[in-house]
Amino acid sequence: MVFRIFRFRWFKRALALVLGVLLGVGAAQLVSLAQEAPTVWEVGTEPAFPPFEMRDDATGDLTGFDIELMRAIGKAAGREVKFISLPFDGLVPALQSRTIDAAISGMTITAERAQTVDFSRPYFEAGLAIAVRESNTDINSLEDLAGQRIAVQIGTTGAEQAAQVEGATVSTFDSAPLALQELLNGRVDAVINDLPVTLFAINEANLQGVKVVGELVTEEYYGIALPQDTEALAEINAAFDTLLQDGTYAEIYQRWFSADPPELPVVAPALAEAGTATGLVWGRLFQNLMRGAWITILLTAFSFFFGLIGGSLVAFAMISPIKPLHWLCRIYVDFFRGTPMLVQLFMIYFGLPALFQSLGFDFSFNRIFAAILALSLNVAAYLAEILRGGIQSIDRGQWEAGESLAMNPVETMRYVVFPQAFRRILPPLGNEFITLIKDTSLAAVIGFEELFRQGQLTVATTYRAFEVYLAVAIVYLVMTSLASFVFKRLEVYMDPINRPKKVKKDPIPSAVVV
Ligand code: ARG
Repeated sequence: MVFRIFRFRWFKRALALVLGVLLGVGAAQLVSLAQEAPTVWEVGTEPAFPPFEMRDDATGDLTGFDIELMRAIGKAAGREVKFISLPFDGLVPALQSRTIDAAISGMTITAERAQTVDFSRPYFEAGLAIAVRESNTDINSLEDLAGQRIAVQIGTTGAEQAAQVEGATVSTFDSAPLALQELLNGRVDAVINDLPVTLFAINEANLQGVKVVGELVTEEYYGIALPQDTEALAEINAAFDTLLQDGTYAEIYQRWFSADPPELPVVAPALAEAGTATGLVWGRLFQNLMRGAWITILLTAFSFFFGLIGGSLVAFAMISPIKPLHWLCRIYVDFFRGTPMLVQLFMIYFGLPALFQSLGFDFSFNRIFAAILALSLNVAAYLAEILRGGIQSIDRGQWEAGESLAMNPVETMRYVVFPQAFRRILPPLGNEFITLIKDTSLAAVIGFEELFRQGQLTVATTYRAFEVYLAVAIVYLVMTSLASFVFKRLEVYMDPINRPKKVKKDPIPSAVVV
């Protein structure tokens, strides 16, 4: 028995010592975090936007044009810069709530954003461009995109452009590389993204089979974003001016783009226009959330249904006497229970088509199919264990009882064992269902506009993170509460003692039956 080890006094002492040391170290770290020197600037960035921000494969550190520029600005201002990785659509809300001091993330200075955050003077001239597959000769300009499928990164100016294209189906992804992967995998016709980033992906990151068409859709300037009315703004602008004058800026620019930097304006032209940030319209939010909730319900229902079928098959295979089948199922269950659902979703949706295409097959997944497949496979693994446990918890005597009544094993399972096991299975089944409702939010990463994504999309244009996510949470809560209520009722119904008695053609009037 493993537990016998706990009887040794030395073991207990060693355990206490290790725990004590761990707690001590943890507490010290917390204290030092809380006392972070005020000279540090915490700068948010979404680090999947090469060549502006990315992770150096060799060292694992952040690198890129923005990162080097920000470090240089920090140095010139006498500040230490600490980068915080955040999703792009989370940067403005983080600035609003002042959880970060600044954000540098290839962020375009727009009049809408300028209503909620402040921008430094422009530090880079960029613009949006359209990318299509090399074989595509139909799309040559923004007009040609009408009615096409477009992938974009959520919360970007590219997403805003795509939303204005007539009749287009837009799918949003958490990062620009994922949107480009979607194009490569043939599930969309075009990507609207910042030109330098798309070019970098094609030329440096080996994104083959994709080309940029037409001319720049927009002219944009990147700026460092800050919370409104902070002193840091003047400090950053002053430091940036220093870098412009002493040639550091030109040197960094040259290193990343092998060219001389263009002349930069002092104020971004976009700020001259009056910004019309879309306010939060509650009616519209409600409508969008309901649309998302419907997709969440569909995803949950289908995945649970298929998961239940798959899980039952696996459960029976695991109690069957056929050993190889047993081992195969064990591997399946361990894999799907032991790896994050997010990884499984990415593997199936982005990985499999890429693999097949590299093998020369023209293969691509439908989004809904991939999501339901990934969710069902995952749920089935959990349900298999629940079902197996439930069935095996029924006393052997019940099988013998069935046999003595001349029932074959299938009949015994159907009439004797399963009905009893089912009652025990119900509570964990309910848990699994509720977990699944929440887990469907992961499908947002493959561009599914389910409930959570609908919230994210609203925040990306209104910057009202708290209200919107609270509304999203409430809708989830309503759904999970309903599910838990239904499972409770089912439990009562399945309980032979408390079940409301059914009266079949009884001579006694039913009112008399208690
Ligand atoms: N320039 C575009 C914008 O501001 C895209 C920026 C995306 N940046 C990023 N790190 N993912 O909307």
